[in-house]
Amino acid sequence: METILLNTEGHVATITINRPKALNALSTQVLSELNTALDEVNANKDVYCLIITGAGDKSFVAGADIAEMKDKSAEEAAEYGAFGNEVFRKIETFRCPVIAAINGFALGGGCELAMSCDIRLAADSAVFGQPEVGLGITPGFGGTQRLARLVGAGIAKEMIFTARNIKADRAFAIGLVNALYPLDELMNQALKMANGIAKNAPIAVANAKRAINEGTQVDIDSGIKTEVKEFADCFNSEDQTYGMTCFLEKVKEKNFSNK
Ligand code: CAA
Repeated sequence: METILLNTEGHVATITINRPKALNALSTQVLSELNTALDEVNANKDVYCLIITGAGDKSFVAGADIAEMKDKSAEEAAEYGAFGNEVFRKIETFRCPVIAAINGFALGGGCELAMSCDIRLAADSAVFGQPEVGLGITPGFGGTQRLARLVGAGIAKEMIFTARNIKADRAFAIGLVNALYPLDELMNQALKMANGIAKNAPIAVANAKRAINEGTQVDIDSGIKTEVKEFADCFNSEDQTYGMTCFLEKVKEKNFSNK
């Protein structure tokens, strides 16, 4: 892969979008290689948490590739939009948690990539925005859907209609990001959180992710049915017996088996 770096340490994998000359803009090649990297991580059952970040200290992802998009027909744009959405939906429904470590510009497709992750940690120098209408298009990789769900329709409409970027502190205030750190601490904090997540029972974490994802799309009674199903499913796992036995026997250092 030319535009993606994949690194795995212990139970945590890190995907780095590595096209710094174009501020990590999402060309078709980047999207395809990201898709391949996700499949590789998915196949490695020892990975319990994934981090996605951008190369360099300036940009997470500055959006879809404008040069590549400029001359697309409506049909080609539909294909590109569908592919971007397919990859981002793969992230959203990924079998383990995905943390975005947002190290700079998260604009257009970059903001959309961050929003498809479960948790967003950002550098205090990061900049967020959906500038698409200033280019004559709408957001195309999920921005009209996920931004409104995350921050509410009013603020989403303001950001999308004005095409104005916002700074990290505003992104934190509206709930677009979970936490801010100085840039040089960001990756350590992301790794710390990822390793903390990876210490918990992977099946329970995955079931909780599914319950939250599905539950936020349906009415409360259907959501609770999903929770009951995912909760009960944990009782088919060895880790449930192990985790509860550790508690009762006052064992502090747990080592879940993912079974
Ligand atoms: N696509 C293609 N190339 C991009 C790019 C993008 N989204 N963003 C930056 N680049 C390229 C620039 O063209 C430039 O290349 P050259 O050196 O070859 O000229 C290089 O990256 C560095 O960029 P700048 O010189 O512009 O850097 P800057 O520091 O002056 O500005 C910036 C940084 C504010 C992020 C500016 O680059 C910018 O506004 N980028 C575009 C942001 C944008 O509009 N994103 C939305 C894209 S549309 C989209 O994402 C649709 C969708 O939802 C699917």
